Amino acid sequence: MEVKHQWRVLEFYSGIGGMRYSLIKAGVNAEVAEAFDINDVANDVYEHNFGHRPYQGNIQSLTAADLDRYEAQAWLLSPPCQPYTRQGLQKQSGDARAFSFLRILELIPQLSRPPILLFVENVVGFETSDTHAKMIETLKSSGFVTQEFILSPLQFGVPYSRPRYFCLAKRNPSSFSSPCFNDKLIWCPSPLFVQNGELVTDECLRPQDNWDKLLESCVPVEHFLEFKSTAGPKTAEYGFENANIVSRELNDPLKGHDERNGFNSTDLDLYHVPLSLIERWGSAMDIVYPDSRRCCCFTKSYYRYVKGTGSLLATVQTFGGWKFLAVTLHNA
Ligand SMILES: C[S@@+](CC[C@H](N)C(=O)[O-])C[C@H]1O[C@@H](n2cnc3c(N)ncnc32)[C@H](O)[C@@H]1O
Repeated sequence: MEVKHQWRVLEFYSGIGGMRYSLIKAGVNAEVAEAFDINDVANDVYEHNFGHRPYQGNIQSLTAADLDRYEAQAWLLSPPCQPYTRQGLQKQSGDARAFSFLRILELIPQLSRPPILLFVENVVGFETSDTHAKMIETLKSSGFVTQEFILSPLQFGVPYSRPRYFCLAKRNPSSFSSPCFNDKLIWCPSPLFVQNGELVTDECLRPQDNWDKLLESCVPVEHFLEFKSTAGPKTAEYGFENANIVSRELNDPLKGHDERNGFNSTDLDLYHVPLSLIERWGSAMDIVYPDSRRCCCFTKSYYRYVKGTGSLLATVQTFGGWKFLAVTLHNA
């Protein structure tokens, strides 16, 4: 029997462990040698999820010797995105939150055991930053080739609009199966699945300006909800494992309807959006329904602001219209 190579992985900026979870979901034969995050609460969640507490500290204080010691072949990095977000000040490498990633870049040429693979995730906007320029320069001079992507879950059939920047880097002699995409920014996932660029059109090298056309190929939001009722999706209440609280001040006349689904009404009440808020701000809310084929990424301001902070889910159709729950549908 062929024994598959096991990757030793370092997970930088591990947060609650989205990267590690992806490795598991993708069935990659990998061992996370260490994860690093400065945030206590994120580390609590990570420990709860994976039974391992990340190294707690500032990544900026790691040395080349520290990193060499792990003998890791793959590095996964999701550094802070605030220096590059369109809504932010866009201070890029001048933002203190970029310093630790710049420090890692500085260390790469000093390593005795540099990784073979690197995976970097960030917001759209990173690819035009001076930090990005520094990253590409460092990787090139350290023998890496890169392929860069801007991809959204919508392109994988997931009803979630969240375009993100990804950089894959491989160190010589490792190489990509479609080298024609080396050093390119790619807007579709096909090069990841084909050999030598066959069947991949030039369209992949042009910015996707119409994400909406992808919606048809997405499964509906209800596919990701957990039914707690035997009734059909249009009439059922839903129970959610990953729900966020919007408001505790409730004046919803539908209160109490949830007991029949095994939830006590107080549990679900936590997530109901008061009618008064819907009447006042409904037109500004991004409302999705169980059969919707998209929803938006929620942000830090979710439940404190109405506009541009994430989708609200309407769950129960009643005589008076839809009843709303505020839930977060996953954020990795
Ligand atoms: C974009 S989030 C990463 C999210 C992560 N991929 C996940 O799945 O949860 C960035 C993370 O970097 C951590 N962080 C920011 N600056 C850091 C630093 N200097 N040292 C260590 N961790 C840092 C933050 O605490 C945060 O959890």
